Amino acid sequence: MFDVKKIRQDFPMLRNNTLMQGKPLVFLDNASTTFKPDVVINDITKYLTEETSNSHRGDYDLCFTVDTKIKNTRKHIAEFLNADEDEIVFTTGATNSLNTIAFGYGYKNLSRGDEILVSVEEHASNLLPWFRLQELVGVVVKFIPLDEKGRITLNNVKKAVTSKTKLISIAHVSNVLGYKVDMKEICKYAHEKGILVSCDGAQSVPHTKIDVKDMDVDFLSFSAHKMCGPTGIGALYAKKEILEKMDPFSLGGGMNVTFHQDATYKCLPAPAKFEAGTLNVEGIYGFDAAIQYIQSIGIDNIEKYEQELKAYAVEKMKKVPGIVIYNEESEAGIITFNIKGVFSQDLATFLNSRGIAARSGQHCAKILPDFLNELSTVRASFYMYTTKEEIDALVEALMKGGDFLDAYFA
Ligand code: ALA
Repeated sequence: MFDVKKIRQDFPMLRNNTLMQGKPLVFLDNASTTFKPDVVINDITKYLTEETSNSHRGDYDLCFTVDTKIKNTRKHIAEFLNADEDEIVFTTGATNSLNTIAFGYGYKNLSRGDEILVSVEEHASNLLPWFRLQELVGVVVKFIPLDEKGRITLNNVKKAVTSKTKLISIAHVSNVLGYKVDMKEICKYAHEKGILVSCDGAQSVPHTKIDVKDMDVDFLSFSAHKMCGPTGIGALYAKKEILEKMDPFSLGGGMNVTFHQDATYKCLPAPAKFEAGTLNVEGIYGFDAAIQYIQSIGIDNIEKYEQELKAYAVEKMKKVPGIVIYNEESEAGIITFNIKGVFSQDLATFLNSRGIAARSGQHCAKILPDFLNELSTVRASFYMYTTKEEIDALVEALMKGGDFLDAYFA
């Protein structure tokens, strides 16, 4: 049974009564990063204290232990997504995965005039690589219009597709508005037109069940640190036949079969050919533990609980005078808001003074403010360990903000 109090006991940051500004920490920035449970910390410590060695480079037992761990982690990630093992590439995170798609797939397979569809709500990591490809190759980056709420709909995708569209690259869940895209119907439509689909899963993989085969997505990018794992590690899923069509854009040890003085070289097959250099081994230990931890709680339980929190928070926050909520109806546990007349960073700084961590600004989605007609916003984002009491603390602080911020209700 899902028990948030019990879950909180697994996280040192939560059970150790961490303070911020001398007040009990209320961490509402989980779309940015998440806390790590003991099982993750313990497994990383185990690598660092008992099993340190390099991967794929030694013929002694310690290396064998590490190689086995890497193989098993790849297998566990594949099972988590219903992918095949050799379709999982270790990266440093979603940003690196998206860059691997742009420069590993796009640079080789796309040509001048080919169109890539994105949306104005994309994170920088799903826009800037494509902008760079526009500079390098001459592909054309085009925007799918959002509906009036900020959703990406199939109808709007259809409006943006032309005979030149080769790739659609969008977030499954927006990191600002939290709307969830029906990727399955978009993939189905795109494939009928011979278009590939890349899904930025940074905000969805930690919170909702993903079945890449059922979704039939071509690429999926995500990070471990947003799902209880360590920073600096993540994964790229890509269909096997697509990985075969891609070239690595990072080359070095561990990804080649052979190379010669005449500058010829041969790469290992995927996924190894995309994993040049020493892997983030402690990251992989932590990633594996994080996946297993999430599975022990149950991804469906996590999603259901976060939706309950979202509904609770919207109901309570709507009562705060002067509040503007931009995404009341979105599916994810993300609430983006402002208080009329108050600069978002002032509000976040005020919340900090109450021990509440929330993100303010443009959340790395720097085109979206034009759509929202707001320079910046405050974002509160939840995870499996967030409590209703923490949401109450946020609401109470927001209610009292007028006593401290002159601009309140201005
Ligand atoms: N992508 C992270 C966020 O939305 C950093 O906060």
